[in-house]
Amino acid sequence: MLIWWFIIISCKAYYVDKFYTPSYNYTNYTNGQIIKTRQINVKCYAVNIDSPTYQLLVKSENSFNQPNYIVSTIFKSPKNKKNRILSYQNFEQAADTTCACSDGFIYPSINNLQCQFDLIFISKLLEAGWDVIVPDYEGNQSAFPVGRQAAHAVLNSLRAGINFLNVESPRVSLLGYAGGGYASLWASILQPTYAPELNLVSAAVGGIISDIKRIIENVNNGPYAGLIVNILNGLGNEYPQFKEALTKYGNELKRFCLIPTALHYFKADFFNYYGKKYLEDPVISTIIQDNNLFGKPVPQIHIFMFHSKINELSPFKEAWKLYRYYCDEGVQIEFAEDLSYNHMAEAFSGLQASLVWLEKSHNNETKQGCNYKIRSSNLFYEFNSTILYNKVKPNITKWKSKFKYKTD
Ligand SMILES: *[C@@H]1O[C@H](CO)[C@@H](O)[C@H](O)[C@H]1NC(C)=O
Ligand SMILES: *[C@@H]1O[C@H](CO)[C@@H](O)[C@H](O)[C@H]1NC(C)=O
Ligand SMILES: *[C@@H]1O[C@H](CO)[C@@H](O)[C@H](O)[C@H]1NC(C)=O
Ligand SMILES: *[C@@H]1O[C@H](CO)[C@@H](O)[C@H](O)[C@H]1NC(C)=O
Ligand SMILES: *[C@@H]1O[C@H](CO)[C@@H](O)[C@H](O)[C@H]1NC(C)=O
Ligand SMILES: *[C@@H]1O[C@H](CO)[C@@H](O)[C@H](O)[C@H]1NC(C)=O
Repeated sequence: MLIWWFIIISCKAYYVDKFYTPSYNYTNYTNGQIIKTRQINVKCYAVNIDSPTYQLLVKSENSFNQPNYIVSTIFKSPKNKKNRILSYQNFEQAADTTCACSDGFIYPSINNLQCQFDLIFISKLLEAGWDVIVPDYEGNQSAFPVGRQAAHAVLNSLRAGINFLNVESPRVSLLGYAGGGYASLWASILQPTYAPELNLVSAAVGGIISDIKRIIENVNNGPYAGLIVNILNGLGNEYPQFKEALTKYGNELKRFCLIPTALHYFKADFFNYYGKKYLEDPVISTIIQDNNLFGKPVPQIHIFMFHSKINELSPFKEAWKLYRYYCDEGVQIEFAEDLSYNHMAEAFSGLQASLVWLEKSHNNETKQGCNYKIRSSNLFYEFNSTILYNKVKPNITKWKSKFKYKTD
């Protein structure tokens, strides 16, 4: 019996990655100060990532400005256009630290499969000369979707990353889809007060979570119902009073990472489980509203938003409302509506379009004011991207001749 305990305990000790916890009292560190660094080998199935990759343990703050720490992964571009930095917020959307991409880049599994998808876009960005920073923006407590915690993590990770890479006059952009878009917007709205020294230029966001209650109502009983468990647990991780309030309606449900949670709670009805009124609970609804993007300050930088018209996870109507809100408040914004189906496909087409737009934003070529355009798919956002061109090397001569043949 004793020997079994010994084996179990020593195996566990072996598997715990010590990098994730500071080994000393770091609480007097400044925000963005680096606690630890290491170089990692990225395991990537889809593309080759040859650039040197590092991880930093960074001092940050939770929503209440109490010290915490986050892990940030730094990909150094081999092309090195020097001052270009991109912070990529991935769509982790889970309430457990084992779901973070810092882990997923080293140990790919079903729990973090979307990080492999992210690496495809990261490789394109590296090739185009961006240094890419991927913060575990949910922090060491896996807070989701929690705006201020995410913003602090993104901004402090940028401070640490820029310092680590030793970049002179960096110009920074943000990119993210769904929960990652949410984190990117929160970072852009807090940056002028929280990290005014950062030169933030633009943010490209899509499939965004703008109103948490609407998302919960929308995914309930559907294929993404498991997201509700992740949202409730993720908010409970940051707000003990939220966790407490929820116990009045039902038990805390078992947490899974994004793909497993979708499978496990497929088509679950949480209004049946927690009752019809749980979202109206004063504690629950106040915390949810406080973390929504509506009614908050607006970004001071150029914004690209993309969203599929038929989005079964994040309702189009809410994205449109946010676009209108930002327009009315004078944000320089371009909205790319995609008529193709669905939330997951849009991640691919919209992120691709974002790479084109981000390139433009750094060449100061983005349009002024509010711009809105509908496309059959955002894959056709603008095919002439130097980024895609370098990667795919299409034979333009050949394509042009084919096109001529058809129109003639
Ligand atoms: C760490 O140091 C701070 C003061 O700098 C102190 O308030 C706190 O209690 C210390 N934490 C631990 C775990 O020792
Ligand atoms: C934090 O406090 C410790 C002593 O408690 C000190 O040795 C260390 O230099 C301080 N670090 C910073 C960044 O101020
Ligand atoms: C996160 O960091 C805070 C501050 O050091 C600590 O109190 C808390 O226990 C940590 N949470 C986890 C899950 O490690
Ligand atoms: C874009 O504008 C910024 C700020 O005015 C400037 O620093 C930068 O060099 C410009 N970039 C290009 C490619 O013109
Ligand atoms: C693509 O864009 C570049 C720079 O914006 C331009 O120089 C080039 O002529 C364009 N190529 C095509 C095939 O339109
Ligand atoms: C591109 O296509 C044209 C016409 O089919 C062909 O003549 C040319 O050799 C091709 N170029 C390359 C680089 O493959």
